[in-house]
Formats: sequence, structure tokens, C-alpha cells
Amino acid sequence: MTLGYTRRVTIADRPTGHFISIEGPDGSGKTHQARLLADALRDRGHDVLLTREPGGTPLGDRLYELLMANGGEPIDRIADAMLFNASRAQHVAKVIRPALAAGRVVISARYADSTMAYQGYGGGVDLETLRRIIAIATGGLVPDRTLLLDLPAETGLARKTPDSHTRFETAFDLAFHLRVRAGFLEMARAEPSRWVVIDADRPSGAVFASVLDAALHLLDRPMTAVIGGESEPTATRTRIDP
Ligand code: TMP
Repeated sequence: MTLGYTRRVTIADRPTGHFISIEGPDGSGKTHQARLLADALRDRGHDVLLTREPGGTPLGDRLYELLMANGGEPIDRIADAMLFNASRAQHVAKVIRPALAAGRVVISARYADSTMAYQGYGGGVDLETLRRIIAIATGGLVPDRTLLLDLPAETGLARKTPDSHTRFETAFDLAFHLRVRAGFLEMARAEPSRWVVIDADRPSGAVFASVLDAALHLLDRPMTAVIGGESEPTATRTRIDP
């Protein structure tokens, strides 16, 4: 199952930067690993933009507050998906695309695959509907590489302290989180040229070695033409129009 963006753009249209997203279930260490990766790449001379979803812009941060609030009015599932994607549209337009156009390496802790995993596989919203919403929000911007920090849902949830619980940990049962994990793994299996699955049920240093390795594999290889067909993994470029 892919995000469903099918038309690759011409070389001239391509942003020159690189886009890496880090995904995974709650408690998988995405924020920490994203920070470590940003520091390591900066040490190697890369111009890095570290960002996150939900959030990543002032508007996105306000939407994040709304979305994460415990209690209050139950949010309709489509409204939920659209709010995450309203935040994403702002993030893509105002932060990610300009950074890629400037040739920067963008690292985002979570991106569109989180909507597929949480609202889709976890929450049961039709996957094709979500693909359409995501395509509008992102204009077809797909990461060059997506690192999945995979670990058992129970382990991830146990790592979260009670005061860091969002409504996703309090309102959804373990079965929801099991579906989220399975969804991530299914997407990774379906699109191996983009995804790298990393065992996150290990000490942070070991996880980071894998994260850095995957990122360097992407950044150190020369780009090749990939228009109109499947490409060699590290040559897959960022923008694909819906
Ligand atoms: P965080 O724990 O990475 O800050 O993310 C907050 C929660 O938001 C997390 O449980 C996953 C959820 N989420 C979605 O449900 N859909 C999305 O599109 C995104 C980006 C996050």
C-alpha cells in the first residue's frame, strides 16, 4: 500500500534537497532520533531543517493543541483527518517545500504516513479517502526516505509517562495501537524503495547507528534519473504529483 502518488515530475521540477521522515508508533523514540540525526548530519556539513508533525508551524502548533486535547467534544473521524492535514498543508507550503527548494535536508518526525497509520489502519477511515486528503494537503510531496522505528505497541506505550499521554494513548485501546503498528509495517512492505524498517526495541545508540546509516545511504549517493518508472531506492526523488 503506497501513499498513492503516481506521477513523477521532471528533473527540472525537482527540489534539490532531501526529505527524510521518521515514523513509528508512540514511544518509539522518533523525536530523540530525529534530533540525533540532525546533529550528526550538521556535523558532516549538511544544512538541516529539523521539523515535526503534528505542528511545525505556528498554525500547526495551534491545531496540535486542539487535536491533542484530552476530553472535550468528540472529533468526527474525517474532521480529525482533515485537521491533521490542514496542519500538514501549512507545514509543506511554508516550511518543507521552501527548505527543499533551498537544497536543505529536511528531517520530519512524523509526516503523512502517520495519518495513514493512525486515522486509517488504526481508526478505520477508508484508506483511499485518506490518500486523497493527503494528496491535496501535500501536493504530492513524498519523502525520499522514510525511517520506521518499529517496536511492539506495548513497549512503546509503556515508555510514555502518564503526563505525556495524548488522547491517542488515553482514548484508544491496545488493539488500536496494534493496528497502527501493523499498518506502518504494511506500508513499509508495500513500498520498500522508500521505507527502511529499524528495530527500535534496542538501546538508543544501536537504533541511532541504523538511523544514521539509512540517512547516509540516501545522502551519499548520486542522484539518477527516475522519471516514469520504478527507480533504484536511493535515486527516488521527492516530489510526485497527485
Ligand atoms: P507525537 O506523539 O509524535 O507528538 O504525535 C502525537 C499523536 O498524533 C500521535 O499519537 C500520533 C498522532 N498523529 C495522527 O494521529 N495523525 C497524524 O497525521 C499525525 C502527524 C500524528
